[in-house]
Amino acid sequence: MTPTTTDAQPDERAERSGHTEPSVRTRGLTRIFGEGDAAVEALKGIDLEIASGELVVILGPSGSGKTTLCNIIGGIDRASDGTVEVAGEDISTEDPGRLSDFRRDHVGFIFQFFNLIPTLTARENVEVIIEMTGRGDKGRVPELLEAVGLGDRVDNFPAQLSGGQQQRVAVARALATDPELLFADEPTGALDLPTGQQILALLQDLNAQGRTVIIVTHNSSVAQIANRVLTLVDGRIESDETNTSPAAAADVTW
Ligand SMILES: Nc1ncnc2c1ncn2[C@@H]1O[C@H](COP(=O)(O)OP(=O)(O)O)[C@@H](O)[C@H]1O
Ligand SMILES: [Mg+2]
Repeated sequence: MTPTTTDAQPDERAERSGHTEPSVRTRGLTRIFGEGDAAVEALKGIDLEIASGELVVILGPSGSGKTTLCNIIGGIDRASDGTVEVAGEDISTEDPGRLSDFRRDHVGFIFQFFNLIPTLTARENVEVIIEMTGRGDKGRVPELLEAVGLGDRVDNFPAQLSGGQQQRVAVARALATDPELLFADEPTGALDLPTGQQILALLQDLNAQGRTVIIVTHNSSVAQIANRVLTLVDGRIESDETNTSPAAAADVTW
């Protein structure tokens, strides 16, 4: 791969990707945890646009603020200061109830350790999200599980599935509400190489179908599959690179 750094302005970038409205826009985004002497400034002023349809990797060492950034854009956490617009909505000023509606309507999350409910089968783990949010169609759950390669595992409990299969359930669950933005925080962190490659291939496919995908990782190899790599260091964006020829997930090793 040959990453090429571009100095394209955000609106230009959005136009080139065929979309004029950025899906994500932050200005002066900061996040401070704790107070006084114990205060930790996890994000120190993030200005960022992500156009819809992009596959962005947020890369950086442990503690650089990746999860914090992802959680704020996804409406799980709140900024201390600055503005965050997602899908045309200013989520930095919203009350918790409205923020929960925002998550239901726009985002799906995939985590490092899958976060499945152990007492529910694969099918039920996906159905529960549809019940909770009132979005999506329970009749489509077998089809969603089939699409992630688990057609024959719908009635298995998480403990009866491998790590890779559990992560596939998590992907199906994230897709259940048909979100326009899909966040994956270290999605391969608990998986071996071949399984990790398969999960990345799945995320690449979902992006090819038009979904905006944001992958958080400390693994620079994973970044090779992205259209764009944002590198975070100590709460700041250190670089923002466009990759004109992303690698296929199967060709990426670590
Ligand atoms: N809930 C929290 N309370 C206190 N400090 C936190 C909290 N979450 C994150 N931090 C701190 O913020 C910084 C960024 O953390 P994080 O976003 O998790 O980094 P990354 O995902 O890149 O490893 C770290 O110094 C971390 O210790
Ligand atoms: Mg993290």
